[in-house]
Amino acid sequence: MKLLVTGGAGFIGSNFVNLSVSDYPEYEITVLDALTYAGDRSSLAKVESKIRFIKGDICDRDLVDRLVSENDIVVHFAAESHNDNSLLDPSPFINTNIVGTFNILEATRKHSKRLHHISTDEVYGDLELDDPGKFNANTPYNPSSPYSASKASSDMLVRAWVRSFGLHATISNCSNNYGPYQHIEKFIPRQITNIISGYKPKLYGKGENVRDWIHVEDHNRAVHMIIKAGKPGETYLIGADGEKNNLEVIQTILVLMGKNADDFEHVTDRPGHDLRYAIDSSKLRTELGWKPIYTDFKSGLKQTIKWYQDNQDWWSAHKTATEAKYKKQGQ
Ligand code: NAD
Ligand code: TYD
Repeated sequence: MKLLVTGGAGFIGSNFVNLSVSDYPEYEITVLDALTYAGDRSSLAKVESKIRFIKGDICDRDLVDRLVSENDIVVHFAAESHNDNSLLDPSPFINTNIVGTFNILEATRKHSKRLHHISTDEVYGDLELDDPGKFNANTPYNPSSPYSASKASSDMLVRAWVRSFGLHATISNCSNNYGPYQHIEKFIPRQITNIISGYKPKLYGKGENVRDWIHVEDHNRAVHMIIKAGKPGETYLIGADGEKNNLEVIQTILVLMGKNADDFEHVTDRPGHDLRYAIDSSKLRTELGWKPIYTDFKSGLKQTIKWYQDNQDWWSAHKTATEAKYKKQGQ
């Protein structure tokens, strides 16, 4: 099987490609990635000789058309992915997440290829802290930020192409991922690299916001199961019952790194900050037999901390600029 992986030099995409090369050596993999600030070819260093890498933009229709025609399935990770950036400048989110996905849809339709579209639970908006419910595939879309609205738009396009044109596509909506190769603008790696760099971790607002953490490897194993056994037209929610509030996460990181649990700073909250995400993944578990391997958040976090300690060359050149950008916003 020939896989075209868009966004394969980003956080989840590079973990997907690394996992695929070791667990599915029979797959032929082509990565299409624009190498934006969030893409790093060195995240694929271990598998470079086993894959084909194309530097290119999913907004380039001719390139997308050609690459789709040469492959059997597109696994579409490429996106602008950071909420805070979408509040500063939404325009790349509209181009990549909506127009780029439209190009992928048109090419997969034209060449009758299979598509798996990677999305987020943030399309559902947020839940109250005391709501006993979780997101499921019937939860109405209610995105809050330009990022989540652009991902919701892309999901809607995929659904329309399935219904109107019979496109052979599946969608997955996953909760917050953590693990190696995540850009240091994101919550968990930002705090780990702050502590390594001698800065204090930064907590938005009171830190009561809840995220449903899943290890990136568990997410990608679920994607592989959907590619193999998912039903065309279906949406699968991926989550590992990992709800934690941000205060708890920051304090756990501090303690695991040998610091005092209160050695962090409160910074300006994110405008429109979603309160809580929580995923009901029972469909994925019962229909496809998926279950997470990383069930102990603390040990997954410990392993992630060690990865950032051992791989400072991968992130240290970006630290000053990332923090300077946050500082301008009071964060
Ligand atoms: P990321 O920002 O780390 O990586 C995105 C990758 O896409 C980068 O390599 C970047 O260079 C590439 N890219 C961006 N614009 C492109 C374009 N126009 N053409 C080609 N390549 C382009 O993102 P991530 O965290 O790995 O997220 C991957 C996907 O998973 C996204 O679709 C995101 O919405 C979704 N998702 C992320 C999370 C999470 O916790 N990070 C959770 C659920 C779903
Ligand atoms: P983030 O990693 O940006 O993911 P998302 O916005 O997709 O959930 O942020 C996770 C949570 O952490 C979110 O509630 C915002 C919060 N946060 C902080 O408290 N401090 C930070 O420095 C960052 C980047 C995020």
